[in-house]
Amino acid sequence: MSAATGARFEFGKNWSRFLERVDEQRIGEAEASLRDWLEADSLAGRSFLDIGSGSGLFSLAARRLGATVHSFDYDSHSVACTAELRRRYRPEDAGWTVERGDVLDGDYLARLGRFDVVYSWGVLHHTGAMWRALQNATSAVKPGGVLYIAIYNDQGWRSRVWRVVKRTYNLLPGGLRWLVLGPVVVQQKWRMVVHDARRGDPLRRWRANAGGRGMSMWTDLVDWVGGYPFEVAAPGAVVAFCEARGFRLRRLFNAGAGPGCNQFTFEAAETTVRAGAEPMLDSRRAPRRQRPGAATDRKQPDPTSI
Ligand SMILES: C[S@@+](CC[C@H](N)C(=O)[O-])C[C@H]1O[C@@H](n2cnc3c(N)ncnc32)[C@H](O)[C@@H]1O
Repeated sequence: MSAATGARFEFGKNWSRFLERVDEQRIGEAEASLRDWLEADSLAGRSFLDIGSGSGLFSLAARRLGATVHSFDYDSHSVACTAELRRRYRPEDAGWTVERGDVLDGDYLARLGRFDVVYSWGVLHHTGAMWRALQNATSAVKPGGVLYIAIYNDQGWRSRVWRVVKRTYNLLPGGLRWLVLGPVVVQQKWRMVVHDARRGDPLRRWRANAGGRGMSMWTDLVDWVGGYPFEVAAPGAVVAFCEARGFRLRRLFNAGAGPGCNQFTFEAAETTVRAGAEPMLDSRRAPRRQRPGAATDRKQPDPTSI
């Protein structure tokens, strides 16, 4: 069912290494990020669908905030990571389901039903058919529910260069991938190392291994270089797409000119969500607009923050 053919990054293997680093602090950061973006201190009584759960950290955070959670991922190693976090922190928990699934499989999503919160952070652009994936994600939101997504920013030619870099990384045999990874690590992090060196410890932030949202800098870097298939969208294209399906933009983090993810929360209309209008396939032709009144964050994110 997945639209991805040829090179495909093995996300789950990267997540397996991250699992060793999951601790209370990272879980707390993930919870704080959900509370912030969902504008809720508790998710008690709400259903939460985690599309592309990856490590499972955000499913765990949602469960700890009280939601009934359904997690799925296309990559069987990612599914195993999510299941491992459930085993560690919520054994025998009937309120958290973990399984393998494909967001491009409309029948599968229809069988799951609709959820109060649909969360898909850094996933839809890695499916090989981003707009179909977004269509399926919107259709899983209950009337009045919330959609929280993050999608790579469209940087024009720069995004096309990154696509080549990522594809090359995935086509290389494992032992040669450092030829791509090494220069990108230097390109992305040299400023940070020089900055910290001037303050006496060049590896201060590197050792802290913090990537924001409870993530790890190294895991995020590998994910950024390897993450393929790779698609991008301008914020206006995503907003127009969702508004055409009955959603209202609640909050936007705009990556500006940077390569990181734009983040969005949308609220579904109280009446039935309208599905159907054809996806807008060329994001460059989409209007770059934002709904008046919706909150916009414009701080520059770490581009390797997946
Ligand atoms: C960058 S990770 C993001 C993980 C997690 N959402 C987070 O916020 O940390 C992307 C995840 O999307 C998953 N994925 C890619 N294509 C998918 C698909 N068609 N259906 C479901 N999951 C998919 C990958 O296997 C990977 O675990």
